[in-house]
Amino acid sequence: MNIKFITPFILLSLLSLTTTTSLDPCASQSDDSNLDVIPIYGKCSPFNPPKADSWANTLINMASKDLARVRYLSTLVGQKNIVSTPIASGQAFDIGNYIVRVKIGTPGQLFFMVLDTSTDEAFVPCLGCLGCSATTFSPNSSTSYDPLDCSVPQCGQVRGLSCPAGGSGTCFFNQSYAGSSFSAVLVQDSLRLATDVIPNYSFGCINAISGGSVPAQGLLGLGRGPLSLLSQSGTHYSGVFSYCLPSFKSYYFSGSLKLGPVGQPKSIKTTPLLHSPHRPSLYYVNLTGISVGHVLVPVPKQYLTFDPTTGSGTVIDSGTVITRFVEPVYNAVRDEFRKQVSGPFSSLGAFDTCFVKTFETLAPPVALHFEGLDLKLPSENSLIHSSSGSLACLAMAAAPNNVNSVLNVIANLQQQNLRILFDTVKNKVGIARELCN
Ligand SMILES: *[C@@H]1O[C@H](CO)[C@@H](O)[C@H](O)[C@H]1NC(C)=O
Ligand SMILES: *[C@@H]1O[C@H](CO)[C@@H](O)[C@H](O)[C@H]1NC(C)=O
Ligand SMILES: *[C@@H]1O[C@H](CO)[C@@H](O)[C@H](O)[C@H]1NC(C)=O
Ligand SMILES: *[C@@H]1O[C@H](CO)[C@@H](O)[C@H](O)[C@H]1NC(C)=O
Repeated sequence: MNIKFITPFILLSLLSLTTTTSLDPCASQSDDSNLDVIPIYGKCSPFNPPKADSWANTLINMASKDLARVRYLSTLVGQKNIVSTPIASGQAFDIGNYIVRVKIGTPGQLFFMVLDTSTDEAFVPCLGCLGCSATTFSPNSSTSYDPLDCSVPQCGQVRGLSCPAGGSGTCFFNQSYAGSSFSAVLVQDSLRLATDVIPNYSFGCINAISGGSVPAQGLLGLGRGPLSLLSQSGTHYSGVFSYCLPSFKSYYFSGSLKLGPVGQPKSIKTTPLLHSPHRPSLYYVNLTGISVGHVLVPVPKQYLTFDPTTGSGTVIDSGTVITRFVEPVYNAVRDEFRKQVSGPFSSLGAFDTCFVKTFETLAPPVALHFEGLDLKLPSENSLIHSSSGSLACLAMAAAPNNVNSVLNVIANLQQQNLRILFDTVKNKVGIARELCN
């Protein structure tokens, strides 16, 4: 299935409405024939955008919130006893996110759920929920709704705990989430993605929320664990999906998510997809080196090496805005970059290597070397410009300090105009240039 989507940066889209009507993702095609994946603050989104005066400032604001997410991703790796992964806690889903229109129940009730490749589970606010927004799922209005019993395997997966003594009963669970927490019941109902219906989809039906950071209309996980969309759809998508994120700068923002093997690129360079039992949801790849211009940046091996037992290594993530390397790696990359560009250098938000735009022509390309695949980043994927346009900045940063384990995160900005293909059966990640603006 091919699903269109657009980036979070819609600041100019109102101006372009009149000239782009034929491409309008809001244009009401029968909403059953087309599933758009749209930015959480996109013009077809029911959510209100934060105030910002330019896409550059929006990006800078968003990137500043990456730390919470990277810290979350980092602190989970290395945990000793994760058999199954609970719903993400502390993950900052108010950043860099895409939403997807789904229908839940029979007849279908419409939700704009946040899509996330580093989370497995789905959850949605339910009728009577305390602290939720007005849009809730009404179980009583669905003929296919079923609460799950505590004894089913999915309940253990989401609770991380066995049932209370006595065995059965409703599957209640509590979850902390991005500084908020919620309590929910694990239930099943049909999930409709465009024309595809996945019957008996297990998800959390939220009863109460405290805090403001749980996505208002729920979340749909595209991770790799047992409760994710790929797992629950069984053979439907053959464990394959891909996406292309359009340019952050483009006027009109459309990209696509493709679920299943149909319509995927036939020839695409691939690198092995690695798996850590300590963080089974995450998409690990084997990053072996980073080049700046012609220089392969010297980096101590231990900061790149994948270690399934500690969960250290490199992941590709759809919810982090700018790529984060552990500090010694970032510092080495930055120092080499600075060596090749004329300073002086200044900081802007998360970016510590900003320079006068006049010197941009000197800026060397950055290449990421994965096992079997070299990705030379186009300049829009390695530089960002200040809103005034006078500065260009290296659009990467160091991962937060004080995390136990090494985790490098390849983020959204570095993935623009690339098709990223995940094959969880053949364990491959494919990357190819594709203009999807
Ligand atoms: C849903 O239906 C059940 C059984 O008919 C009823 O007890 C319950 O109050 C209803 N819940 C709501 C929120 O309407
Ligand atoms: C969830 O939290 C509430 C309030 O703290 C508590 O009463 C309840 O027992 C918890 N439920 C589970 C399944 O842990
Ligand atoms: C889904 O659940 C319903 C009722 O709980 C059951 O009758 C049906 O067989 C299930 N379908 C599948 C595909 O498991
Ligand atoms: C990563 O790639 C390097 C270079 O090809 C190889 O030596 C190493 O074994 C790979 N690591 C894993 C975990 O596959």
